[in-house]
Amino acid sequence: MNILLTGVAGQLGQELLPLLAQFGNVTTVDRNVDSAISPKRLKLDLSDLNRVEILLNRQRPDLVVNAAAYTAVDKAENDSEPAFRMNADLPGCIARWTERNGGFLFHFSTDYVFDGQKGQPYRETDETGPINVYGESKLAGEWAIAASKCRFVVLRTSWVYSAHGSNFVMSMLRLARERSELSIVSDQTGCPTWARNLASASVKVIDRLLKYKTDSKNDGLYHYCDSTITTWYEFARSIFSTASGLGLLDEIPRMLPLKSSQYPQIAQRPGFSVLDTAAIRDTFAVESMGLNASLAACLQEIEDDK
Ligand SMILES: NC(=O)c1ccc[n+]([C@@H]2O[C@H](COP(=O)([O-])OP(=O)(O)OC[C@H]3O[C@@H](n4cnc5c(N)ncnc54)[C@H](OP(=O)(O)O)[C@@H]3O)[C@@H](O)[C@H]2O)c1
Repeated sequence: MNILLTGVAGQLGQELLPLLAQFGNVTTVDRNVDSAISPKRLKLDLSDLNRVEILLNRQRPDLVVNAAAYTAVDKAENDSEPAFRMNADLPGCIARWTERNGGFLFHFSTDYVFDGQKGQPYRETDETGPINVYGESKLAGEWAIAASKCRFVVLRTSWVYSAHGSNFVMSMLRLARERSELSIVSDQTGCPTWARNLASASVKVIDRLLKYKTDSKNDGLYHYCDSTITTWYEFARSIFSTASGLGLLDEIPRMLPLKSSQYPQIAQRPGFSVLDTAAIRDTFAVESMGLNASLAACLQEIEDDK
């Protein structure tokens, strides 16, 4: 099977790459690689949709795993055109190609498609209502895929962290080393998700889909996030105590809870964006992982990489 993986340099893409090899030949795409390195690592700016189409016609993938996205939530507020190109036009283009040529699209979306007002975990069938440009662009991507009528799974996820790239865990570790006191938002609730758990969940779903290849009844939209519900403030507390236990932090900074309204962020975030993961569990036997062991493993990896 020919597999095309985009976003391989990102948090999720890095975790997916070694797991996807079990299904066939994986060709990866990113924009900063020297394409001379290997014909299986291609260099492409995915916002150039003409070149994406040429690539698809040349590679003819049976499965496209699209982990590439414009993920800079604040920057997107004043940079909506590139955000929509990557998060809506690109998946739409891949989906239409997949519909015309056969194959399957596996794509990722976000808890930020919701407005955060529900107060209970969001199901796949709940009404969307993004309150920032990033969420709008990701929702437009979901719609473009559904409109294409191709075979697809879209996994919505939330608060992704890993030992690489820029994410809340890495930011908190850096800030804790620089400052003795930190103010952290305490009125946004969600589920931090380790990129490795998200990658394993994705691969379990892909495995099931491939076993029942001709049956499209389980295609569609699912939620996957890790199972621990928390706030950024409490998540930071877990990061500091686990990191300190592992010897990654000499001192834990004093923490001050902050309301979103007091924190100068350009994009608004939903106050409550917990995703209900019952559908992926019932359909694909994918269980959500808890925070403590995942965070400890991620922090251990950061320590090992030092
Ligand atoms: N991060 C989160 O908290 C979060 C939460 C909910 C949902 N999600 C979704 O989960 C998925 C994976 O996110 P992630 O955290 O792994 O994102 P990430 O770490 O920001 O990785 C995104 C990848 O996309 C690539 N990319 C962006 N623009 C590109 C372009 N024009 N051409 C080629 N490549 C381009 C980036 O390449 P460069 O390395 O060159 O920039 C990077 O490798 C995304 O669909 C995201 O929307 C993420």
